[in-house]
Amino acid sequence: MKLPSHFYRALATGAPAPYRELPVRLERMIHFVPPHLEKVRAKLPELIGQVDVVLGNLEDAIPADAKEEARKGFIQLAKANEFGKTGLWTRINCLNSPWVLDDLTQILGEAGDKLDVVMLPKVEGVWDIHYLDQLLAQLEARYGIQKPILIHAILETAQGVVNVNEIAAASPRMHGMSLGPADLAASRGMKTTRVGGGHPSYGVLADKAGDAPRAFSQQDLWHYTVARMVDACQANGIKAFYGPFGDFSDLEACEAQFRNAFLMGCAGAWSLHPSQIGIARKVFSPDPEEVRFALKIVEAMPDGTGAVMIDGKMQDDATWKQARVIVDLARLVVSREPAMAAIYGMA
Ligand code: GLV
Ligand code: MG
Repeated sequence: MKLPSHFYRALATGAPAPYRELPVRLERMIHFVPPHLEKVRAKLPELIGQVDVVLGNLEDAIPADAKEEARKGFIQLAKANEFGKTGLWTRINCLNSPWVLDDLTQILGEAGDKLDVVMLPKVEGVWDIHYLDQLLAQLEARYGIQKPILIHAILETAQGVVNVNEIAAASPRMHGMSLGPADLAASRGMKTTRVGGGHPSYGVLADKAGDAPRAFSQQDLWHYTVARMVDACQANGIKAFYGPFGDFSDLEACEAQFRNAFLMGCAGAWSLHPSQIGIARKVFSPDPEEVRFALKIVEAMPDGTGAVMIDGKMQDDATWKQARVIVDLARLVVSREPAMAAIYGMA
């Protein structure tokens, strides 16, 4: 085990010191763009104002013969735009691919100071994080990058799920984790052909009651994994995200899946299609009624102790803490979208 006193040391001479606390950022949607497409790059200035994170995807969904173009396109879009409060991430190819070394060396060499987070696919254990951690430090040092680049793992292999706690604690460079339901389904041997969401046959049949028709309730295939991921992340002070929802024609189901993730503790989800941006913004911003109620709790218990009744409901130290989670998130939303202050009753 690494000595606790060495945990926050830079891993290469000349690399920036790792963060001790994650930068506080609103990351409701991680919006995926295919950077090899010129028309997509041309829309970047408009997109930056509409999303919390722009992610240039280099991995799955980018054809093998477009990998180099995608990397070049990402570097181009990183250099050509100012991102302000919007995060700039890239999803690199996986560690056993022929492209990943060039992804990292070229992107850090040419646009490292613009990059906030590297998303690492198919993470199986701490060894994947440690490798990337070391390499990023070497490249930060070589290219004089001023702020540490964070790592975001995709939880999308059975082995990754088994090792999820260790992955979350692997490095001070860890930003968080996203559920990757498509690869995870394959890795687990699940019998589905979807990118996230439910399955009509996965559910519970009500008990027999004579000849009465029996209700069947579809269940959430991802509940177990999201819960494990959220616990691993929150226990280590990093953030959990739901990943992709592949059925662009079913906005209602996308919203339901995102909302389950939000309620269970996730900070955001991926948007793969423009129609999913608004859904993520709505779902991962706290509900105005919840915010107003949370503000009442915080106001009624200024030091966060004791017990009070509000609208017939008992509040104590624990509900005060829940209220703080909601109020803090609402403040973060307002810092990005000032018009929300009036809607939240925070004006
Ligand atoms: C995402 O990468 C997934 O496999 O679902
Ligand atoms: Mg995947």
